[in-house]
Amino acid sequence: MTSLAGRRIVLGVSGGIAAYKAVEVCRRLVDLGAHVSPVLTQGALRFVGETTFSALGSERVQTSLWDEVSPIPHTRLGQQADLVLVCPATARVLGTFAAGISNDLLTATLLATRAPVVVCPAMHTEMWEHPAVQDNLALLVRRGVHVVPPGEGRLAGGDIGKGRLAEPVDVVAAVQRLLSPKPLAGWRVVVSSGGTREPIDPVRFIGNRSSGKQGHALASEAFERGASVTVVTTVDRPLPAGIVQERVETAEQMRQAMMAAAVDADLVVMAAAVADFRPVDPAAGKIKKDKGVPQIVLEPTPDILAGLGSIKRPGQILVGFAAETSDLRDNALGKLTRKGADLIVANDVSAPQVGFEHDTNQVVILVRRPGSDEVEAIDVPLDDKRRIAAAVLDVAQSLRSGEHQHDNALG
Ligand code: C5P
Repeated sequence: MTSLAGRRIVLGVSGGIAAYKAVEVCRRLVDLGAHVSPVLTQGALRFVGETTFSALGSERVQTSLWDEVSPIPHTRLGQQADLVLVCPATARVLGTFAAGISNDLLTATLLATRAPVVVCPAMHTEMWEHPAVQDNLALLVRRGVHVVPPGEGRLAGGDIGKGRLAEPVDVVAAVQRLLSPKPLAGWRVVVSSGGTREPIDPVRFIGNRSSGKQGHALASEAFERGASVTVVTTVDRPLPAGIVQERVETAEQMRQAMMAAAVDADLVVMAAAVADFRPVDPAAGKIKKDKGVPQIVLEPTPDILAGLGSIKRPGQILVGFAAETSDLRDNALGKLTRKGADLIVANDVSAPQVGFEHDTNQVVILVRRPGSDEVEAIDVPLDDKRRIAAAVLDVAQSLRSGEHQHDNALG
């Protein structure tokens, strides 16, 4: 568990019934060693007491621009903060912040800080789903604000629905993630994600079941570890603001984008499921049913990973994937050697909850360390794709630092 020792956090509490949960968040942050400065809005004061936060926080609660000894509390709080957390964040605070208006100490602090900002929205379902709220939130996300999304459950007044504040433990985990060390700072990482589509005619294609979840999880994890990240992808899935996205469709488009992006990359990950074959001559117009069953002649697509292996510069780390249904390790070992990769992440896509379309994965990471002929095999048990991504990046990082974490040699 990441310690927050010495980290200064402004805990902004705005006026919703969920403000009582911020008490727990405050206590947990202080327990982890953080210096917590509570800032309560006038609305929050109607739900929770100043004394509670003053007692649990690291300094006296502040509620106004005008009641401190310092004439400019918002700049003091904003400048000193390592992170500003708004929990709960009401529709009003989100809207005011998105509009750049500062009309109380909390919104002034949000504008006066350069530290990361985390907002934890909590409100009734109707308010949460209102386009104005969603647009404000989308704008804040584009500006780099981090969101801990609300869950579903019991709301004020007994209603049940989406809009319930995230659990305190999840809010604190998000803060810990953001304030954790950045082992990939200075790294340029390129990840391919999704499955390619090879046109048969203007409306049909040869495709595969890749959802892009594992590739996107790798990109998000690398970004959170401080890397600058480019994702070359065929899918439209959300990614943290700050990741560069290049949309492609075919294997050839992906090859061109990856070869260009890889030139100055430190880590290149081919997580995409590239079609192995494509129609030689896609039809210019839609193939008509009444013309009979078409004969579609296929040709192999370029092997992008092997191409990247052939231009790999010294020190660059190249990661490939192997989706198999049998002989997992042998097949993956062959790919490691043939394609010039340093690491192959192999999964048995026929196993339950593994691979395509699932949120979870189970993999074996095969790694050949620089200057070694031996291949290590690291088993990563069934887990969330984000944690699988973390395990892959741990191994990639260890290649750079020359660490030997495992000695499970395959030969
Ligand atoms: O040979 P196979 O398709 O099983 O290899 C899987 C690995 O090779 C994956 O990392 C995939 O992204 C990559 N690949 C590629 N170009 C292809 C086929 C696969 O880069 N045409």
